[in-house]
Amino acid sequence: MCGIVGYIGKREAAPLLLNGLRRLEYRGYDSAGIAVLNGALSVVKQKGSVGDLENALQESGERLSGATIGIAHTRWATHGDPSDRNAHPHLNNAGDIALIHNGIIENHAALRLELSSHGYTFNSATDTEVLVHLIDRMWKDEPSLNLEGAVRRALRHVEGAYGLCVISSREPGTLVVARKGSPLVLGLGDGEYFVASDAAPIVEHTRKVVYLGDGEMAVVTAEGYTVKTVENIETEKLITELDFELGEIEKGGFEHFMLKEIFEQPDVMHDVMRGRVRLEEGRVRLGGIEDYLDRLKQARRIVICACGTSWHAGLIGEYLIEEFARIPVEVDYASEFRYRNPIVGTDDVVIVISQSGETADTLAALRAAKEKGALVMGICNVVGSTIARETLCGMYTHAGPEVGVASTKAFTAQVIVLYMLALALSKGRTISHDEIALNLRELTRVPEKAARILELDSQIKSIAEIFKDAKNFLYLGRGYNFPVALEGALKLKEISYIHAEGYPAAEMKHGPIALIDEDMPVIFIATRDSTYTKILSNIEEVRSRKGRVIAIANDGDQEISSLAEHVIYIPQATGPIMPLLTVIPLQLLAYHIATFRGCNVDRPRNLAKSVTVE
Ligand code: F6R
Repeated sequence: MCGIVGYIGKREAAPLLLNGLRRLEYRGYDSAGIAVLNGALSVVKQKGSVGDLENALQESGERLSGATIGIAHTRWATHGDPSDRNAHPHLNNAGDIALIHNGIIENHAALRLELSSHGYTFNSATDTEVLVHLIDRMWKDEPSLNLEGAVRRALRHVEGAYGLCVISSREPGTLVVARKGSPLVLGLGDGEYFVASDAAPIVEHTRKVVYLGDGEMAVVTAEGYTVKTVENIETEKLITELDFELGEIEKGGFEHFMLKEIFEQPDVMHDVMRGRVRLEEGRVRLGGIEDYLDRLKQARRIVICACGTSWHAGLIGEYLIEEFARIPVEVDYASEFRYRNPIVGTDDVVIVISQSGETADTLAALRAAKEKGALVMGICNVVGSTIARETLCGMYTHAGPEVGVASTKAFTAQVIVLYMLALALSKGRTISHDEIALNLRELTRVPEKAARILELDSQIKSIAEIFKDAKNFLYLGRGYNFPVALEGALKLKEISYIHAEGYPAAEMKHGPIALIDEDMPVIFIATRDSTYTKILSNIEEVRSRKGRVIAIANDGDQEISSLAEHVIYIPQATGPIMPLLTVIPLQLLAYHIATFRGCNVDRPRNLAKSVTVE
């Protein structure tokens, strides 16, 4: 959460920084600001979007021109409301140090008290502002320090998480960055350097990046950079080549990133399986876990930890791994796992799933599992992300950058990865070669079936128009479609702000049935699998209470058309494959309902793409 971008080089900093902010806006969008150094510091910051900031800059543009070093920030508020004064960058009282920050300074209250007692005055309600005054204080206490030294010393007093970037007119040619918990990437250009929370603002300038590790600091000038730990120990850093194109983080003719990403799914599904599904050999080859496969197969138990949509993918993973590989699986919210002293040992495998690879709770769960001696495996989308780097082994989802805040293509990619994993864990143990081959054939047919579902977009849009003013929605599914019901409800609530609940259909009569009346749309995922007849009974129960039924059913199912008010027909597939298909109409339905309601689907209120705070 919060987007950080910094630049130092030969070019005009302000337009580069603004462009960078636009690419990072999915990380936070309640206020934005920029500071450049041109002799003195010039700062423009305000509540609102990056677009609003640009408008403000048109008035003050003169002040910012000519500077070749600067920092900029787009905020997701934690401490202090979204407002002009709480927007970053924050300045020290003398106005000669500017700082942007992503994360939470946990001991900010104590630091604030102490700094106040030394005469510092605060202009914001943020935890961040204490940092800039602290740096100032360290520098004043020891004037022989440089900016790097002052930051380093200040960080010794700080508890919590930070990704930060500091400039000062006292040392105009230096940008100092530091990271603990919140991600930072350094982009290495030709005589210029970029710093950002992720690679999105960097890729159009350079493909060469260095990922800062936790507890590391970089000092960047136009001539070069050094990376040391906060304790001042030199560290060797690998230069990594970015593996995505600029076009992948642009809308490509779609109205929203979310829609583009929903429509990308057939291609993404191909990409996830490419080189891994060996149809001719009837097996999967999973390079990232190959060396650990035997240990994974011998796991006493697998625990999957994740948050949000990734947690829903994890639930499907549980069904898949237990069905095929017959290894007991538990799925835990990462935030619960990390704090509940779980029973995990050396013969357990913990799989963490994260699109961003930066989610604070998932990262903490990973570290807790490692500490307890479990083999920790990651399933991540963002290459080089912290979770990807800290897990012993893992698999990338190869879904490409996901910019829309609501996760769509990352989810289907995660499910395919889990499917392939389940088959790899089954090999030679629980299911026959022929069964594996059969499942792989089914998997390779999914992209084409997904493409057929996307052709239903206009039908789904017209259903969305009918229900756009509903106050509540219920999503029901059984078996493999139960996690999809949860995911459908999450998609709707996060982007349309309609209250929605997902339930296993059989649970309906244990409570939620009380909600059903003529104003309650109920979405049934009623595909033809072993629970089909049961779900028909559930539909009858809703109908007899006048609930309005929308069904996702398989092609050719006549029976359901007499029961449901609307039916979205999708291609037939086996039960385990079904979530990959049934989720797509629910993504589209949420998208269209949200756009009919005038919501900003790519940047829903209160949310941010990468949840790097607890
Ligand atoms: C929902 C959504 C979130 C994320 C969750 C975990 O659409 O995007 O629920 O799934 O914040 O994020 P990652 O997968 O990046 O760890």
